Amino acid sequence: MKAEKPLRLGVAGLGTVGSGLLTLLKEHGPAIAARCGRRIEVSGVCARSKEKKRAADLSELVWFDDPAMLAADPGIDVFVELIGGDEGPARKSVTAALAAGKHVVTANKALLASHGPELAELAEKNGVALNFEAAVAGGIPIVKTLRESLLGNSISRVYGILNGTSNYILTRMQREGFPFAEVLAEAQALGYAEADPTFDVDGHDAGHKLSLLAALAFGVRPDFAAIHLEGIRGITPADFRAAEELGYRIKLLAVAVRTESGIEARVSPTMIPKSSALAGVDGALNCVAVEGDFSGLILLAGPGAGARPTASSVVSDIIDIARGQVWPPFILPSARLKSKPTAQMRGHEGGYYIRLSVYDRPGAIAAIATRMAEQRISLESVVQKREAPDLPGFGRPGQEGDATPVVMITHRTREDALRAALDLIVKDGHVQGTPQMVRIEAL
Ligand SMILES: NC(=O)c1ccc[n+]([C@@H]2O[C@H](COP(=O)([O-])OP(=O)(O)OC[C@H]3O[C@@H](n4cnc5c(N)ncnc54)[C@H](OP(=O)(O)O)[C@@H]3O)[C@@H](O)[C@H]2O)c1
Repeated sequence: MKAEKPLRLGVAGLGTVGSGLLTLLKEHGPAIAARCGRRIEVSGVCARSKEKKRAADLSELVWFDDPAMLAADPGIDVFVELIGGDEGPARKSVTAALAAGKHVVTANKALLASHGPELAELAEKNGVALNFEAAVAGGIPIVKTLRESLLGNSISRVYGILNGTSNYILTRMQREGFPFAEVLAEAQALGYAEADPTFDVDGHDAGHKLSLLAALAFGVRPDFAAIHLEGIRGITPADFRAAEELGYRIKLLAVAVRTESGIEARVSPTMIPKSSALAGVDGALNCVAVEGDFSGLILLAGPGAGARPTASSVVSDIIDIARGQVWPPFILPSARLKSKPTAQMRGHEGGYYIRLSVYDRPGAIAAIATRMAEQRISLESVVQKREAPDLPGFGRPGQEGDATPVVMITHRTREDALRAALDLIVKDGHVQGTPQMVRIEAL
């Protein structure tokens, strides 16, 4: 039998993931060639600085200064985009590669969350692959699981812990009792968090990934702007203490769920039962869960970032191409993807954790309970804390006129009803500051 021609890669971006890819191909090249029936070779590379010292030997490879030139070069079959960013060189070069009829493999969630539909359309038009396993949860093979293994199911919910930095911070806060700012500063000093942590702690990164998961699970167009985002900055040690007593863990949870009013997609700090599998996913780990009507609950956990895990996912996408497997990027042809996730958070239904700073005055708690009852919100528990609180503005607990933390758990209720009740409770003047509200996810 005639040996197949090698698959020629153009690799743009030689940072964490790009170097991991070159290392993996060097270590496992022969085994991969045996498994997929053809050799995979790197023909051209590109990064910002040619002079930068790199771990891999690039002397045999053709260097390109411009990723878009590499993308369209006749000497490559697959363009591997490992630059990052939703605009600029990444968008330009991926578009150039697809337009030139090259397959594309990318780890870039920001690019796909913002421009996925138009890039998918271009890939389909040119009959090439646009593969992105590494873009969601690093080394965890969740894209293939949804794209291949669970295709026979109707999926009701996909959710997970998708950002290692915020999970590391929440884990430290829970274990050590430190406030957010202190743990963030420590994470920054150790290199676990960026100098500008917005992307991680405000939910943007998890939102990018969730928009791709929602597209694969529910056939909706990936649309980052349609994801409801809340970050972890407002979570306090008092919330962790209350969660511990009530049997919950607090995680930055990304959830896309089929509801009667459409697909709801949100990233927010969420209370989950301590007994659930996700509650034990600590530190920088990621975990993704999928509920299929025939498969049942599928859980995948592992490293969500890092050179080697991410390279593992990039290579799995390259191997698919080497084996001749080319599918529409978001499973359905892009013209058949439904409009973006549609359900509004005001219609969200579930249990809630509420923490209020209630002035110690006769009738205050009764007045709050009345406001809840007016909105038909039933309370599962109300706990008034007499401990010395760590929140600014609290006086001596137990003194008339001072504020005391009150923690409430609601039964299943609509979010708009709860928000209306909290607005009135604030207006009534019985509470100090803004109420804390955290959704509870039944897992
Ligand atoms: N790091 C992870 O664990 C991880 C996990 C999953 C997904 N991802 C995704 O993978 C992608 C790459 O991430 P990374 O962590 O590897 O980034 P990185 O370490 O910052 O590397 C980025 C690379 O892109 C190159 N680059 C930047 N601007 C360029 C330009 N205008 N032209 C050519 N090359 C340019 C840089 O060149 P120089 O080396 O010369 O500066 C560098 O080699 C991102 O989309 C990221 O979201 C990363």
